[in-house]
Amino acid sequence: MMAFHVNNETQTLKLGQVIGQNMVPGMVICLKGDLGAGKTTLTRGIVKGAGIDSHVTSPTFTIINEYEGKYKLYHIDTYRIESLDEMIDLGVEDYLPAGDGVTVIEWPELIEDLLPEDRLILNIVPEGVHERKITVQIHGKSTSYEKLLQELKNHDSIGN
Ligand SMILES: Nc1ncnc2c1ncn2[C@@H]1O[C@H](COP(=O)(O)OP(=O)(O)O)[C@@H](O)[C@H]1O
Ligand SMILES: [Mg+2]
Repeated sequence: MMAFHVNNETQTLKLGQVIGQNMVPGMVICLKGDLGAGKTTLTRGIVKGAGIDSHVTSPTFTIINEYEGKYKLYHIDTYRIESLDEMIDLGVEDYLPAGDGVTVIEWPELIEDLLPEDRLILNIVPEGVHERKITVQIHGKSTSYEKLLQELKNHDSIGN
């Protein structure tokens, strides 16, 4: 488990960018935190870091947004789902994990039972208007996440 203390939106974007630069297809990145914590903001950084030049909006109504870079990036927001069956009908399991890209999920706790064992969990806790504590934790034992965590450690310019 690692913790970052960021002081503004730019630092959250930067943390996301480092993740985006170091992630690999097949990864599942879970973003926890209340409304307004910064999950979509962090996703924007991840998308940018993946080299994708797209405007990221929360897929609250569409549930799943797809971006295309050197590989696919699936952005899922389960906030408005009414049942697990609804998610299964949408084919969400095809992205948990995706064979051809990375999956970023806002509100992963709502589809906990569908999540793969190996995943990265980020939790964003507001500590002020602009301050956030962002913890990063590996679930499972995939070594690819260890490498990503090491890269994040090397970037201690992000907060702390
Ligand atoms: N350090 C920070 N990191 C992320 N967002 C921040 C930060 N400080 C302030 N904000 C603001 O908080 C809001 C976060 O919104 P958003 O990323 O959509 O949250 P979520 O997807 O978790 O609901 C934005 O309005 C953003 O400008
Ligand atoms: Mg959001």
